[in-house]
Amino acid sequence: MTIAVGILGMGYYVPERIMTNYDLEKIVDTSDQWITERTGIKQRHIAAKNEVTSDMALIAAKNALQDAGLSAEDIDLIILATASPDHAFPSTACILQDHLGAKNAAAFDLSAGCSGFVYSLAVSSQIIKSGLYKHILIIGAETLSSIMNWHDRNTCVVFGDGAGAAVIGITEPGYGVLGIDMGADGSGGKYLYQPAGGSRCPASSETVAANGHTIHMNGQEVFKFAIKIMGKTTERALKNANMKSEDIDMLIPHQANLRIITSAAKRLKLPMDKVWVNLDKYANTSAASIPIALCEAQAAGAIKKSDNVLLAGFGAGLTWAAVILKWCK
Ligand code: ACO
Repeated sequence: MTIAVGILGMGYYVPERIMTNYDLEKIVDTSDQWITERTGIKQRHIAAKNEVTSDMALIAAKNALQDAGLSAEDIDLIILATASPDHAFPSTACILQDHLGAKNAAAFDLSAGCSGFVYSLAVSSQIIKSGLYKHILIIGAETLSSIMNWHDRNTCVVFGDGAGAAVIGITEPGYGVLGIDMGADGSGGKYLYQPAGGSRCPASSETVAANGHTIHMNGQEVFKFAIKIMGKTTERALKNANMKSEDIDMLIPHQANLRIITSAAKRLKLPMDKVWVNLDKYANTSAASIPIALCEAQAAGAIKKSDNVLLAGFGAGLTWAAVILKWCK
């Protein structure tokens, strides 16, 4: 019999401080009208001074464990997806393992940009199916505000901070992960990256002066890629699950741009009431965006037991991933 693996519990956290589009008007040459029309974003949450990725991940993880009715010691592995880790090393997953008291857990970070949470879900479900581990904690957590160039209107208006977590484990037969698609096209890495701080361009006073440690993005290229890949990855996941788009009850897309989301929904012929959108409140929280949206959708009663839920994202790498779940909670 095939082992069914699904989400046993979920939790999220966003920092208290809200920065509106109007606040950004005071920092860069932009307007609420431009940001709203081009992206759908109205505000974002920004981490407090000294509030780092592992701090947000810790709160989201505790909420997910409570929701799953498990303790930190029940966790066998932690996978933390982030593009804004506490340090280059040790991994933020190891820092979280310590702070959470998950002393029985192995831990590693996963780097797949905004696709990171869906990559983590795909990978963790297969590790559990293999019989190696019983419970895996996956987290998408970002403090993108710490690697933002607050003078660059191309990037500073689209991102936000936050964390979302899920406990993955064995569920009822027929439920949980039904289909997976993952992919990457490294040739597009140059469109969304942090140029300095790695072995290619070590930190120096010059790299700091040149804003090399902040997010650099060619928005138009990422946009074109996203429009194409959201259609492809959702179709491949549907094929992998042997399903059709009309079988989907709720799409939880990566929350980057409302125009990308509506285009994906149109291609899947899904009405917008079957698509969860919260980027107006949180902007693009990268690896955290899909788990935060999933948590919210469930809390709002928009997802019920047996619903087919499609998670789909794209991000730095360039990467993409989609997972279809039969909701088991
Ligand atoms: N406010 C006002 N004007 C702006 C702003 C701003 N914040 N940003 C750009 N503009 C101007 C440009 O300078 C340009 O002016 P010009 O015509 O005089 O040259 C004009 O607006 C149009 O600029 P575009 O870059 O063509 O704007 P576009 O419609 O493409 O929107 C955006 C930009 C929102 C960034 C869009 O390209 C996008 O969403 N791209 C995808 C980004 C994305 O999803 N990134 C995350 C990937 S996931 C991850 O791993 C983190």
